Amino acid sequence: MTAPNTVPGAIAAHAADPGGAAVTLERVTKSYDRGRVTALDNVSWSFRRGTFTAIMGASGSGKSTFLHCASGLDLPTSGTVRLGDTDLGKLKETALTQLRRDRVGFVFQGYNLVPSMDVQRNITLPLRLGGRRADTGWLTEVVHRVGMADRLDHKPSQLSGGQQQRVAVARALVTRPEIVFADEPTAALDPRTAGHVLRLLREAVDGIGQTVVLVTHDPTAAAWADSVVFLSEGRIVDELPRPTAATVLTRWETL
Ligand SMILES: Nc1ncnc2c1ncn2[C@@H]1O[C@H](COP(=O)(O)OP(=O)(O)OP(=O)(O)O)[C@@H](O)[C@H]1O
Ligand SMILES: [Mg+2]
Repeated sequence: MTAPNTVPGAIAAHAADPGGAAVTLERVTKSYDRGRVTALDNVSWSFRRGTFTAIMGASGSGKSTFLHCASGLDLPTSGTVRLGDTDLGKLKETALTQLRRDRVGFVFQGYNLVPSMDVQRNITLPLRLGGRRADTGWLTEVVHRVGMADRLDHKPSQLSGGQQQRVAVARALVTRPEIVFADEPTAALDPRTAGHVLRLLREAVDGIGQTVVLVTHDPTAAAWADSVVFLSEGRIVDELPRPTAATVLTRWETL
């Protein structure tokens, strides 16, 4: 796979190896307002299975657009997105909806829990929508990992922001999706609660080989990832492997 706008060696090596890719983007462009705004500009990238990637960039650099295109929530104006071997652009709307429900997990910044449903029903919602039975062992493990076992009958309004976000993470993990995307999931949380949510994502990667892509503005959050990808004006401009908060900050300042 070529990576036209990603030149440094590490990036080329990463992008050139499509083996074991969970999601691959090839020359993806997303324009808005009849082409007046280019939110993503010819981006090629692949996320290897079992890796944790953070995406950083200034406000308006295209991070959410990238996540929405990579997850099938939105379709690119041009270019190809593949989940495993499935070309998302070739799917009809119903098939795309099913794919998003069954094979992709998405954690929204605003949690997006259903207010009328308790924690248990919120977490198992994607399974019910897909007509799938919960794997009780896995459900129990996910619920324990997010620390919500004693709150299963609580409604979202009875939970703190951090607890709601942990329910949202559990909901994203419960289907054992091929990839989990999280768009600034810790932005509204205090550092300690943010740490819990990030540890959970990290443990999913290390424990069950989950693939995770996290958008964040926070170098401390990015440091939980295996590598950080930097976006600027809709293009991938750099990758930082084995990040620490300090190296992320330094790279960020010199972008
Ligand atoms: N639905 C839309 N219609 C028109 N322009 C849009 C739309 N969505 C995004 N854009 C534009 O695309 C660009 C990238 O937006 P995007 O939301 O992806 O940025 P971001 O990096 O996620 O920013 P933030 O950090 O503020 O969340 C911006 O210039 C934005 O104004
Ligand atoms: Mg955004």
